[in-house]
Amino acid sequence: MRTQVVIVGGGPSGLLLGQLLHKAGVETVVLERQSREYVLGRIRAGVLERGLVDLMGQAGVDARMKAEGFVHDGTLIAYDNDMFRVDFAAHTDATVLVYGQTEVTRDLYDARDSTGGDTHFEVEEVSIQDADTDAPFVTYSQHGQTHRIDCDFVAGCDGFHGVSRKTIPEDVRREYEKVYPFGWLGILSETPPVNDELIYANSDRGFALCSMRNANLSRYYIQCETSDDPANWTDEAFWDELRRRIPPQAAEALVTGPSIEKSIAPLRSFVCEPMRWGRLFLCGDAAHIVPPTGAKGLNTAASDVHYLNQGLRQYYGEGDSAGIDQYSIRALARVWKTQRFSWWFSTLMHHFPGQTEFDKKMQLAELALLRDNNEAQAAMALNYVGLPY
Ligand code: APR
Ligand code: PHB
Repeated sequence: MRTQVVIVGGGPSGLLLGQLLHKAGVETVVLERQSREYVLGRIRAGVLERGLVDLMGQAGVDARMKAEGFVHDGTLIAYDNDMFRVDFAAHTDATVLVYGQTEVTRDLYDARDSTGGDTHFEVEEVSIQDADTDAPFVTYSQHGQTHRIDCDFVAGCDGFHGVSRKTIPEDVRREYEKVYPFGWLGILSETPPVNDELIYANSDRGFALCSMRNANLSRYYIQCETSDDPANWTDEAFWDELRRRIPPQAAEALVTGPSIEKSIAPLRSFVCEPMRWGRLFLCGDAAHIVPPTGAKGLNTAASDVHYLNQGLRQYYGEGDSAGIDQYSIRALARVWKTQRFSWWFSTLMHHFPGQTEFDKKMQLAELALLRDNNEAQAAMALNYVGLPY
């Protein structure tokens, strides 16, 4: 079998790229290791930058997102039992859209189905071959049979644990990593959100975040030990701890109920350079991971997809390879800025084991600067709504 672009991984990066290329008349095959139900069962952050919202529009997949998403033009930062607001609209001409990543992925699968896109689920032993030649191909097995797809290019959209990144030889690949000494315990509950905007809280007991999916679905997180287990936390214990970490007015307004999901996520910053090797291009979590503070994971994946889509369109439309040749440099320039923001926001908001009184004072001084200073707020707003592509 032959296609133009093999997309390894049917998460949001792979699917969005597939739909954008379909609009340009470029044929793709998506190979996904899991079942569709499994992919759609994953719960991830739900704050979309304008760039991603625009890409969903370009892909023709934005109808439900526009109807059901919530526009947020500010966010709340809490510390010292008080809260202040960072107003995005006052500092930028952009807002963000609160719409779950799971819903983004569902809309992309529906669109792929309706446009007849070729998608293979539950594939095993995916192997990317000859990516450093003009004739790459991908082999995989499914239901005990081995298959081969010849192609022009391979898009490695298979997340952090995928095979694509590891296909780049070790002497070419350079990896940068920072692991944070804590995790996030998150719950989803069918209760109204405590506030109509997100609340990020720095407290002596550790970080907390009040987020949401819709008017009757809330997402809350508390900083926890990396070694902790969700089974150690009853719903009551979670709500009690959350109340202690957010300002009193929010704690009083909190509506609690049974959790419908409870899990722990580690916090990590990670970047792989380069993001291209021959005819293989890495996109999204395959190339980089951010700690979730600021919700940049999906949004950074989207900017990669944008640069790769542009490069491939230029190649197929005009026979010009300048865009794909520049892909890694252009994508990484934005990736590193987003890494910086996610690291800064994480460092500002969490309690670090072994943190000294001086370290704590530094966090408080920086929070006070953010509360009181227009330029500091403008820098935060610019990054939160998303740097331009
Ligand atoms: N072969 C085929 N598919 C694979 C393989 C493989 N060897 N390894 C992994 N996959 C699939 C995974 O099952 C998953 O569905 O690739 C997909 C990658 O999806 P994500 O991990 O969601 O990564 P990505 O699409 O880049 O999405 C960006 O934004 O909010 C963040 O981390 C969050 O998932 C999110 C990401
Ligand atoms: C979420 O709703 O899951 C979420 C929102 C904002 C973040 C991280 C996660 O910064």
